[in-house]
Amino acid sequence: MKVFVLGGDGFCGWPCAVNLADAGHDVVIIDNLSRRKIDIDLEVESLTPIATIGDRLKAWHQVGGRAMRFVHLDIAHEYTRLLDLLRDERPAAVVHFAEQRAAPYSMKSSATKRYTVDNNVNGTHNLLAAIVESGLDIHIVHLGTMGVYGYGSHRGATIPEGYLTVEVPQPDGSRFTEKILHPASPGSVYHMTKTLDQLLFLYYNKNDQIRITDLHQGIVWGTNTDLTEKDPRLTNRFDYDGDYGTVLNRFLMQAAIGYPLTVHGTGGQTRAFIHIRDSVRCVQLALENPPEAGEKVKIFNQMTESHQVGELARKVSALTGAEINYLPNPRNEAVENDLIVDNRCFIELGLKPTTLDDGLLAEVVDVARRWADRCDRSRIPCVSAWTNKQAEAIHSVPVA
Ligand SMILES: NC(=O)c1ccc[n+]([C@@H]2O[C@H](COP(=O)([O-])OP(=O)(O)OC[C@H]3O[C@@H](n4cnc5c(N)ncnc54)[C@H](O)[C@@H]3O)[C@@H](O)[C@H]2O)c1
Repeated sequence: MKVFVLGGDGFCGWPCAVNLADAGHDVVIIDNLSRRKIDIDLEVESLTPIATIGDRLKAWHQVGGRAMRFVHLDIAHEYTRLLDLLRDERPAAVVHFAEQRAAPYSMKSSATKRYTVDNNVNGTHNLLAAIVESGLDIHIVHLGTMGVYGYGSHRGATIPEGYLTVEVPQPDGSRFTEKILHPASPGSVYHMTKTLDQLLFLYYNKNDQIRITDLHQGIVWGTNTDLTEKDPRLTNRFDYDGDYGTVLNRFLMQAAIGYPLTVHGTGGQTRAFIHIRDSVRCVQLALENPPEAGEKVKIFNQMTESHQVGELARKVSALTGAEINYLPNPRNEAVENDLIVDNRCFIELGLKPTTLDDGLLAEVVDVARRWADRCDRSRIPCVSAWTNKQAEAIHSVPVA
């Protein structure tokens, strides 16, 4: 099928695009390359050297991959070009990765808060409005986040896949049950944009019957897939800095370069995780199992396991001998939380979860070691604080 991959030059989008092309789909990557521009602004680079999008596409073709095309387009601000592209190409589906995805970056300043809201909410809304205006029946597969449910206490309850069944008391004492969107509890401006995306989907699905699958993804770890390992020019990005680096990949690269593992707070925060290979596979499964016409938004929890941050640090330390450094937390969040997650939808579709085994952890450490000389240690600390209170705490600690 013809598929648009919005944000297909990014960390999750690039391996997903090559996987879909490999599976025989006709892939068009759409990206405004804003992520590369943010690296320039932050004066940091992916730990792994990444080729330009042109060289990536050339390399993919040279290793025998089904050709993909690239369109440089900003979905948040070039509405007419997006609409024309949909009308000309008539894709069967759009996979939507094209958002500003770092919570710390979204909390850096009022400028980055406003950029994140403007980019993410406008981008998603432009896509929905353009699909309606095109009159085409296009399935949207969107990358959301587990963070929409919030990381407070769920009092031991299992987080369902998007919808919660609630009992509503009536004045006469009777009750009726209803399935509602799970209450949103965003923990950053970035997460807030994802909860707004959910409402946009609910509305356009109800009003215009757009078929949508929203994937509430956990934190992605790992770097490459079998396909991106086929040529150095296909290598995926590896973010390690305090704004874009995600917790497990950061621990693994810190261990690789002999930098004490940065646990913020007590380490009692529990988060959901998924390996990049499973992320890629889930997107394909979602794409190939679309909702029926008229079906409400499908929501899948795209994660394979939950772990406490401190427990992960101890695991990486046991594997590599790295020291652990407990630092003030830049985030305004619960010291500790529980996270029990229902992820049956993907398991029933055939996902065989990749779990956190030592071999895969060691593989990421190896990648990080290979590129250790590209690391700028001054970019490792998390400097974006949620409020002034957290800012004071993190700035009171001398930089390692
Ligand atoms: N990486 C993770 O751990 C993780 C976890 C949960 C959810 N997600 C979600 O998955 C999606 C992809 O994340 P990622 O890690 O690949 O991020 P990324 O920043 O590496 O990739 C996003 C891509 O989208 C592009 N983009 C951003 N705004 C755009 C716009 N207006 N028009 C066109 N292109 C635009 C960027 O240039 C970039 O190539 C995001 O929506 C993110 O919220 C990621």
